[in-house]
Amino acid sequence: MDYLTLNTGAKIPQVGFGVFRIPEKDICKEAVYNAIKVGYRLFDTAAVYTNEDALGDGIRQAIEEGIVTREELFITSKLWVQDMDYEAAKKGIEASIKKLGFDYIDLYLLHQAARDYFGAWRAMEEAYKEGKLKAIGVSNFYPWILTNFCETVEVIPAVNQIEMHPWFVQEDALKEANRYGVIVEAWAPLGGGRYSPDDSEIITSIAKKYGKTPAQVVLRWNLQRGVIVIPKSTHLERIQENFDLFDFELTEDEIKEISTLDMGYGDTRTKHFDPDFVRMIINNKIHD
Ligand SMILES: NC(=O)c1ccc[n+]([C@@H]2O[C@H](COP(=O)([O-])OP(=O)(O)OC[C@H]3O[C@@H](n4cnc5c(N)ncnc54)[C@H](OP(=O)(O)O)[C@@H]3O)[C@@H](O)[C@H]2O)c1
Repeated sequence: MDYLTLNTGAKIPQVGFGVFRIPEKDICKEAVYNAIKVGYRLFDTAAVYTNEDALGDGIRQAIEEGIVTREELFITSKLWVQDMDYEAAKKGIEASIKKLGFDYIDLYLLHQAARDYFGAWRAMEEAYKEGKLKAIGVSNFYPWILTNFCETVEVIPAVNQIEMHPWFVQEDALKEANRYGVIVEAWAPLGGGRYSPDDSEIITSIAKKYGKTPAQVVLRWNLQRGVIVIPKSTHLERIQENFDLFDFELTEDEIKEISTLDMGYGDTRTKHFDPDFVRMIINNKIHD
């Protein structure tokens, strides 16, 4: 496993496991437990995924069986939009800590740049200084939003988690994050089920050359750009496949060739520049 170093000095694994769209508690718990057995140490959830408790349960089972210690793991969760103001964020942070069931969270993100996210950030900065959140970061921040944010806040985000795969290359976002020492984490690193690595002639021929799968080539493409990947799967063989990325290396030319798949836009459902989308996330309530 390769690790990157956050602006806090903490090491973060470059390959993690995401649990978006696994609302069923038993399936989520089992997938997390299996992922730990395979070797994953970084886990990514969010308050809005409603499975922070199931992620915690899968981890606890592995700890109780002596497979791993809490200190070896890196747990990420995210504050939902409903809790984005100073007072609500303080409660949202406590709720995430309680649901996960550990004393601290390794990385906590503002899920979206919506409502009073500057107020929420102040609450996160306080929890960071108290040691409840070991690192704090952001998600879905477009380059100009990240720039404004980094030029304004006291604690610079450790991470910006954004959609990033060969069909949405986001070179500008990577460049702007690097400028502020913010590490980029790729969500939907396999294309999020909307694109299939298997359907690209460019990717399949490179995969054949290295004796790897198209999914592994796509994940490797991001790793070599200095990006963290957090693929999701509930199938053990894919969980294993998505972790087995360190026995081959793409050439610079191959990285460039894969990048030609860029469509220049991401998930057409996730449009923070669309007023209807903004209204939709603001009205998406996850608690009373
Ligand atoms: N910050 C945000 O706003 C945000 C948004 C979206 C996602 N995320 C995070 O990023 C993580 C990953 O994103 P994602 O789940 O949207 O997309 P993804 O990891 O790119 O793709 C997941 C899809 O690919 C399939 N898959 C997994 N491994 C495969 C393989 N080796 N070969 C072929 N297909 C494979 C999965 O199916 P099976 O499960 O059936 O194997 C699932 O349908 C999420 O779990 C979440 O933690 C964050």
